[in-house]
Amino acid sequence: MRAADIRAADIARALAASRARSLAYTDIDDADLRRQHSPLMSPLVWDLAHIGNYEELWLLRAVTGSRPQRDGIDELYDAFRHPRATRPALPLLGPAQARSYIGEVRGHVLDALDRLDPDAFRPPVEPFGDGMRSAALLADGFVYGLVIQHEHQHAETMLATHQLREGPPVIGDAFDPGRIRALPAGRPVHPAEVLVPAGEFTMGTDGNTPGTQWAYDNERPARRVHVPAFFIDTLPVSNAAHAAFVEAGGYHDERLWSASGWAWRCEAGLSAPQFWRHEDGTWVRRRFGRDEPVPMDEPVQHVCWYEAQAHARWAGRRLPTEAEWEKACAHDPVTGYSRRFPWGDDDPTPERANLDHVACRPAPLGAYPAGASAYGVEQMIGDVWEWTASEFTGYPGFRSFPYREYSEVFFPSEPDQTSPTGYKVLRGGSWATHHSAIRSAFRNWDHPIRRQIFAGFRLARDAEKGD
Ligand code: AVJ
Ligand code: FE
Repeated sequence: MRAADIRAADIARALAASRARSLAYTDIDDADLRRQHSPLMSPLVWDLAHIGNYEELWLLRAVTGSRPQRDGIDELYDAFRHPRATRPALPLLGPAQARSYIGEVRGHVLDALDRLDPDAFRPPVEPFGDGMRSAALLADGFVYGLVIQHEHQHAETMLATHQLREGPPVIGDAFDPGRIRALPAGRPVHPAEVLVPAGEFTMGTDGNTPGTQWAYDNERPARRVHVPAFFIDTLPVSNAAHAAFVEAGGYHDERLWSASGWAWRCEAGLSAPQFWRHEDGTWVRRRFGRDEPVPMDEPVQHVCWYEAQAHARWAGRRLPTEAEWEKACAHDPVTGYSRRFPWGDDDPTPERANLDHVACRPAPLGAYPAGASAYGVEQMIGDVWEWTASEFTGYPGFRSFPYREYSEVFFPSEPDQTSPTGYKVLRGGSWATHHSAIRSAFRNWDHPIRRQIFAGFRLARDAEKGD
């Protein structure tokens, strides 16, 4: 959306869409909602009230200056006060109370949106000065975008909880068959890798190109970055390629792993992607409570950064840096422009990318020729998040906005220091990511040991001089 296009009605529709998703993923029995399905995840009833509390903080208290809807509510749903493992012991709102709380908040938000001066979304001509925080929050509907993206990010987290959940399936292909669309078929893609010649490109965004107004603080500011020549694969790594790595003994060959990766592989007993099982000579996976043969032509998912790194070393390759990933995704070498998506600035469509949970899985490799980048790299947006080699840090000139706890507190405390256990950057979004919460510049991050997220990887290598 361009600045001028942002209207209250569009925002109300986007708020309704993210809420429909949260409600669909929590339409299960009360005991199931209160249960902690994994110490890595919150009980779903925590996520549900947390999204409402976040909305209350940003769309009511910050915008309208209203009083808290419930005493003590902020403290309960503050992710920093209570690590995920401790959330089940809190005096949380029950499922019915959580639903009525978030409904109440939403009612007040829509009333306030109705009363808002349409000019409130217009950014000032001069840069924001001190004391213009609320104008800066409203410009381009930014604070609404913050809340909409937040709810969709938690929807993806809820799906990861559903994937970890034991017992009979409650979500997946049969959960809501009406909204599961067939994914496009795969096709062979040649060449297998492309050369991205050395040169500068614009990395990150200032939120002033179409569709990037809601970019987070960690994607800003845009800057010119020189990237030496490199090769990157046209497709993410497949289940077939990863099965070959497993079968070649990759999980047992210490030389392929970093020291911290090997230590983790031993401690956690890693031997294949999470949810995989070897049965009668074939690979089977559990997906949302159902067993099925591993489809060899899909991007691999549920691997941690350490596994991705070991696979890359086995293949004589490496993970791309996030600058390489973003250049291959966004840079148009003809115009020099950095695109919102690989194909341009237009919204994703079902022909371009597998997003928005239209199916409960990545699409086969080669399914999205229309989603190719200027360099011919495919499936960068959607399907699986892609681990990059890079540590999550602030870009030069980073300024936290609107709060430090979204991004800044996850940066390493010593600038320019990389730690083997720090947060690694993931790019591109997954099949479970909503299209409003992804773009070429979008940065996600997680610990290098995490596997419950819908993440895979893509391989790269240095280009020799003369390539
Ligand atoms: C950007 C996905 C790492 O889930 O921890 C949700 C998003 N921030 N609530 C996370 C987020 C606050 C965040 N990630
Ligand atoms: Fe959150």
